[in-house]
Amino acid sequence: MSDTQAMQARLVGEISAAADLDALEALRVASLGKAGSVTSLLKTLGRMTPDERQAQGPQIHALREAVTAAIGARKDALEGAALEAKLGAERLDMTLPAEAAPQGSVHPVSQVMDELAEIFADMGFAVATGPEIEDDWRNFTALNIPETHPARAMHDTFYFPEVGEGAAQRMLLRTHTSPVQIRTMMEKAPPIRIIAPGRVYRSDSDATHTPMFHQVEGLVIDRGIHMGHLKWTLETFLKAYFERDDIVLRLRPSYFPFTEPSAEVDVGYRQEKGRRIVGGHGDDEGHAWMELLGSGMVNARVIANCGLDPNEWQGFAFGVGVDRLAMLKYGMDDLRAFFDGDLRWLAHYGFSALSVPTLSGGISA
Ligand code: PHE
Repeated sequence: MSDTQAMQARLVGEISAAADLDALEALRVASLGKAGSVTSLLKTLGRMTPDERQAQGPQIHALREAVTAAIGARKDALEGAALEAKLGAERLDMTLPAEAAPQGSVHPVSQVMDELAEIFADMGFAVATGPEIEDDWRNFTALNIPETHPARAMHDTFYFPEVGEGAAQRMLLRTHTSPVQIRTMMEKAPPIRIIAPGRVYRSDSDATHTPMFHQVEGLVIDRGIHMGHLKWTLETFLKAYFERDDIVLRLRPSYFPFTEPSAEVDVGYRQEKGRRIVGGHGDDEGHAWMELLGSGMVNARVIANCGLDPNEWQGFAFGVGVDRLAMLKYGMDDLRAFFDGDLRWLAHYGFSALSVPTLSGGISA
């Protein structure tokens, strides 16, 4: 065996016995590194005579290849063993509870709208919708609020810039959900029983007013409808919504251009620990009346404006603030917080997406 072959056998033996990756790296540097033993031997080839080179060259090259191959093989073996050891030592504890994923919540306004839809569905009302960008005719004129009517000023309307065609077509952000009354009466034949929840807009802003807020409109059109139906419907709705039987209503004569007669509806309540608790007669000891919604018998002119014969069809309508209903039931006091999008507020006042309000399961989730 030549010296070169002996060196190869020794090096390959050492490499195959390297205990770990660090030891293997040290052997690589000592043999194939810049000043390594194999590298030095390769350098001697340049100084040899052609005969010497022919005799020793193949052995020296074979040495380099054998050492390189041995290092690669030992590296694979050591890495494989390290991975095996790691897999053998690690344990997955399947009994640990899963980490909680962040969860959204249902906004109180959405929750209350769902509650209202559920309550009114039980009384045979369908849900109707209309656009938030409405025309002047449906928002005002058809509802018996002509151009010169002072009620227009009361509504602090957001108008869009005029685009020809005359004032009747002028577009605006609807100031109430009442235009859905017009849309429904013009599109559907009576009898009609609908509620129309949605966003409305008025140029107004303080702790109890925001430029955008929510209303639910109610409309019934049928033969022989009278104010008794209106009062029963509101009473039944409010008892279901507040989940108590002692709801007492007071109908106060009022004025809306689109209803005649019109009634403001008050509800009895008392103050408890700084919160308004709805229920009881407003004139009783410790109680008071609170204005809750507007209502009335649909004005014959509005029915006629929609192409129906007011001698045949009558009905009632009401409009109520959804945000206000939510504040009263769930105890929030600042309306502006409803629309700030503060996640802490939503986490506190929001509802689980899984607790859908149903009459059988409990309206307030
Ligand atoms: N549209 C009225 C308002 O926004 C409420 C209302 C609706 C009153 C229907 C009577 C009948 O103030």
